[in-house]
Amino acid sequence: MKEDLHDILFTEESLRNRVAELGAHITLDYANMCADSGRAPTCPLLVGILKGSFIFLADLSRSIDLNCEIRFLSASSYGFSSVTSGRVKIGSEFDSDITGRHVILIEDILDSGVTMAALRKFISRHEPKSLKVCALLDKPARRQVQIDADYVGFVCPDEFVVGYGLDYAERYRNLPFIASLKPEIYE
Ligand code: IMP
Ligand code: MG
Repeated sequence: MKEDLHDILFTEESLRNRVAELGAHITLDYANMCADSGRAPTCPLLVGILKGSFIFLADLSRSIDLNCEIRFLSASSYGFSSVTSGRVKIGSEFDSDITGRHVILIEDILDSGVTMAALRKFISRHEPKSLKVCALLDKPARRQVQIDADYVGFVCPDEFVVGYGLDYAERYRNLPFIASLKPEIYE
């Protein structure tokens, strides 16, 4: 597996530290908002985008000191490719009782922005009380639609990266760090 990697961009230690900072930041921002979150006993509602966010969400949620709720939503546009197809398939099993909730979408990486734009639209239709986006990585060089994350872990260079949940053709998700792939693997 490691022979396919080009460069380690974010080490285990830097991921751990940055994710803890993001969790502390979210805790501060939502402590007051969640104090009067109405009927909902849990706040904020963290919605992890499958599958890439599963490790990030596991670590991030443990550094948020609030009674948060965790759900998952599936979205895919890449298939077995390294570029977006431009069409986003959203899992339809998501239940809709998010009206009036403080929702944070948790994404592994913002690349073209197409996936997040579709997800924002999908969630907004259910009228959450607030909606923010938290992305571990932001690759602004490749943006096709105007969208920003409210919380970003790291700005990522314009390279295809894997590890810490991110895959190429379903591989490398279990690497504990984030690395760029050798171009010959995906070209
Ligand atoms: P977007 O719709 O182009 O912003 O793509 C977002 C999704 O594409 C992410 O949730 C990832 O699953 C995938 N993706 C984008 N760039 C990379 C990358 O460098 N490595 C692995 N997956 C990526
Ligand atoms: Mg993916």
